[in-house]
Amino acid sequence: MNNQFQELSMEKKRSIMRCYEFRRENLLDILLDLQEVCPGRCIDTGTAGWVARELGVTETKVSEALTFYTMLHTEPQARFVFEICSSTPCFFTKAQGVADVLSRELEVKEEEITKDGLFAFRFVPCFGSCAEGPAIKLGDEVYGNMTEESLKELIERCRELEGTEP
Ligand code: FES
Repeated sequence: MNNQFQELSMEKKRSIMRCYEFRRENLLDILLDLQEVCPGRCIDTGTAGWVARELGVTETKVSEALTFYTMLHTEPQARFVFEICSSTPCFFTKAQGVADVLSRELEVKEEEITKDGLFAFRFVPCFGSCAEGPAIKLGDEVYGNMTEESLKELIERCRELEGTEP
């Protein structure tokens, strides 16, 4: 059993299972909820095995869900992931400049996670805010016309949300 699994209290895990009445047809919702409370926001092999045993399904079935659903992760994820549109209209409005600011401010390269586990950034295809480039997504929120200043403010807001200092 690895550390991540141990760190998550049994009561918390069981309360999630109870919410879904230990029903195997709720596998996806259970994995999503567990992922939210697991360190690193991912389902590691220990957690996946525990879920399989509790639901009375095979580990293969849990693995298939983890592979199929892109919102489930088996590797540690940053709390805040800046998704920078890299499609042509945003590219011409200096999407690379957004990446440069994030890289400098967060001291990470694309797809790397900051040491505190809070931030990462990556390029993604167009998400429909083409008239507001350079555009980024943060969770479900879209932000357009990004400048160095607005990026710094956004980073600060995220840190405030987590109660952390730079
Ligand atoms: S081209 Fe960037 S959001 Fe569409």
